[in-house]
Order: sequence, then structure tokens, then C-alpha cells
Amino acid sequence: MNWESFLAPYAQVVEELKVKLKGMRAQFEYESRHSPIEFITGRVKPIPSILEKANTKQIPMDRIDEIQDIAGLRVVCQFVDDIYKIVEMLHSRKDMTIIAEKDYIARKKESGYRSYHMIIAYPVETIHGEKKILAEIQIRTLAMNFWATNEHSLNYKYEGRIPTEIKTRLQRAAEAAFKLDEEMSKIKNEVQEAQRIFHRKDSKA
Ligand code: GTP
Ligand code: MG
Repeated sequence: MNWESFLAPYAQVVEELKVKLKGMRAQFEYESRHSPIEFITGRVKPIPSILEKANTKQIPMDRIDEIQDIAGLRVVCQFVDDIYKIVEMLHSRKDMTIIAEKDYIARKKESGYRSYHMIIAYPVETIHGEKKILAEIQIRTLAMNFWATNEHSLNYKYEGRIPTEIKTRLQRAAEAAFKLDEEMSKIKNEVQEAQRIFHRKDSKA
């Protein structure tokens, strides 16, 4: 297995999608409109994690490209509405094909995890011609991201076996985070108006 050549197009996809998503954010800013995107991160799955996943999912090495999250992008938003705006925008794009979607906001996971997941096929030009690469885009609010980041750390620490008591706390924390999102949604217009005023002051200074 030549990992370097296998992973190169994935790195290419992550970089291209980061540029495109950041471009969307910039366009909203030029038009002085609320950007549904707060920030974007991206990564190529580390080789040990790829091997681990191939092992647990019983994927042979010659079909390793069936793993859907070797290229991963994360779009973080201020408000829950923003997530669905991005989903809609991604649907209307002609440069990617949506393969699968999971709405873990409408149906949270047992852990308390919330996010919107999209698996896309994205064409990259390689020296051997066009190659369709799968990528996972996770779209979530700042509150959902805060929760998921902390839960991920705990999962790592406890090697996936978080003690029941902490699990229960995490589930409660997930509900509190969602409550925060709901409350913020209710004052969204107020918040956005304040942000527009700030933005105007910023550009004068
Ligand atoms: P994976 O084997 O994890 O890919 O499961 P899957 O194919 O059923 O996909 P799923 O949509 O459940 O999860 C994909 C990704 O979402 C994971 O790799 C994580 O990044 C994230 N995720 C899913 N569930 C959780 C969770 O309970 N906690 C956190 N922190 N992240 C999660
Ligand atoms: Mg997955």
C-alpha cells in the first residue's frame, strides 16, 4: 500500500473544499449578510484510524476507498437554521454529488450527539485523470461542536468506555447545549442586528 499516493487526492479534496466553503463565507460578508458559516476545519484521517476502521468494518485493503470519511470537513455555525441553509446550498451545487445524509439534529444519537452529516462524491483531477473521492461534511452549531469535542476527548481517554455516570452527565450536557441553541434561535434577529452594527463600526475604524 502506497499511502502517500493513496492519500494525496484526499488531501486535495480537503484543501479544495476548505477554499470553496471559505469562499461562501466571504461572499456573505461582502454582501454584509449574516454568514451561516462561523468557521471551517478539515482533515485527512490519520493512517492508524483508517486501518482501525477498515478492521472494525471488515473492509479489505483493495476496497479501502469505501471508507467515507477519509476526507473530513466540518462546518460550524452560530444557529441551527444556518445548518439547514448550508445543507440547501450544498444540494444546489454542481461540483459535488450528495451520496448520503444523516440528520442527527432531528434524531440525536444515543450519546447525545447532534450534527448534520453529508457524504459527498467530489471529483478531483489527478495526473491519471478524474477521480471521484468520498468526503464527509459535518455541519453543526458552536454549541454542538463544544459538546462533541469534549465528548470525543472523554471517549479517547476512556477508550470508548465512558463510565455510566459521566455518560449521563454528557447526555444532560447535550440537552443543555441544545437548549442554548433553541434560546439563541429565539433571539437570532436581535443578535444579528447587533452583529451588523458591530460590523459597520469595525469597517469605519
Ligand atoms: P463511523 O464508523 O463512526 O463513521 O459511524 P457511521 O458510519 O455510522 O457514521 P456516523 O454518522 O455515526 O458518524 C460519523 C462521524 O460522526 C464520527 O466519525 C464522528 O466524527 C462523528 N460522531 C458520530 N457519533 C458521535 C458521537 O457520539 N460523539 C462524537 N463526539 N462524535 C460523533
Ligand atoms: Mg461514517
